[in-house]
Amino acid sequence: MITLGIETSCDETGVSVTDGRKVLANVVSSSVHLHKKYGGVVPEIASRFHVEYIVEMMKKAIAISGKNLKDIRLVAVTNGPGLVGALLTGISVAKALSYSLGVPLIGVNHILAHLYSSFLGNGGVRFPFVGLVVSGGHTVLFYCEDTVRYKLLGQTQDDAVGEAYDKVAKLLGLGYPGGPIVDKMARSAKRLNKIIFPKSYLGKHSLDFSFSGIKTAVLYYVQRVTKANTEDQKLDKSLVADICYAFQEAATDALVEKACLACAMRRCRRIVVGGGVAANSRLREKLYEAAALNGIAVHFPKMEYCLDNAAMVSFLGEQLYARGQRSNMYLTAEPNLGPR
Ligand code: KG4
Ligand code: ZN
Repeated sequence: MITLGIETSCDETGVSVTDGRKVLANVVSSSVHLHKKYGGVVPEIASRFHVEYIVEMMKKAIAISGKNLKDIRLVAVTNGPGLVGALLTGISVAKALSYSLGVPLIGVNHILAHLYSSFLGNGGVRFPFVGLVVSGGHTVLFYCEDTVRYKLLGQTQDDAVGEAYDKVAKLLGLGYPGGPIVDKMARSAKRLNKIIFPKSYLGKHSLDFSFSGIKTAVLYYVQRVTKANTEDQKLDKSLVADICYAFQEAATDALVEKACLACAMRRCRRIVVGGGVAANSRLREKLYEAAALNGIAVHFPKMEYCLDNAAMVSFLGEQLYARGQRSNMYLTAEPNLGPR
């Protein structure tokens, strides 16, 4: 079913055309360069950017897909969670399209869209599985039997893992968004076990996460080093790399261990990961390794479907539509829509 997807929940303006798992077009324009100097996303700037670029992105997606507007059978749009002004831009365009083309409209939960992004262009992903969503706003574990039958197993009790990456990068003066920079810096670390940051497990059997403790441990470490500022204790590039490495080890260990624990508790042999942090090289490495030891299959999204994109929205929209879900013109932005 040819579905047009729209994603405007944060700083990426995305439009896609999909047909089941097949991605015919997936275009994204990001306003990240406009937020850099503020060290994080400025909602009003993000909203204005969407207004400016959404029509252009739509035209581009349609052209790349080789389809015409009249081929579209369904319009899917992220309606939460996210920034209210940003979400409203996408929702308004989606409603206008759905109304003018006379095709159904469906609102999609952004977190769940991330969860199924590994299905895009990959026929090998199957249910049931333990789903791990790791993004800038969420860190959630699910058990999924189907796109409409899933259970929330655990989630972060404080910072999301991507948020912790961004905060650590900020306090190390590495810029925004921090995840890719910390990932890269960690790869250049030389003294691998020089620093160990404490991990927080919230109990042996808990499937919840906590990342604010690791972030605070990094902050105290940086403050101590900056104060000492001696020959072997100064915040130079090499020590920053060691800190990135130690932070990343602690953060990814928690993700890997909980995902494997969830599999053991659910007697499940498959893990599916989604969200911006799914692009992390060390998380991929460690999860593949740990899962192989436990006889578990792991699926990560292709790189282009890790960060915010519309293809994951149209894919999930089509799945939900096929299972009888519908939205109408009363669809509205739900900034705090939970993982449910
Ligand atoms: O899924 P996403 O695009 O947006 C949200 O829904 O939040 O995720 C963005 C997050 C940011 O926090 C960014 O720092 C993080 O994903 N990220 C990474 C990497 N690439 C992006 N974190 C760790 N390693 C990466 N390579
Ligand atoms: Zn996202």
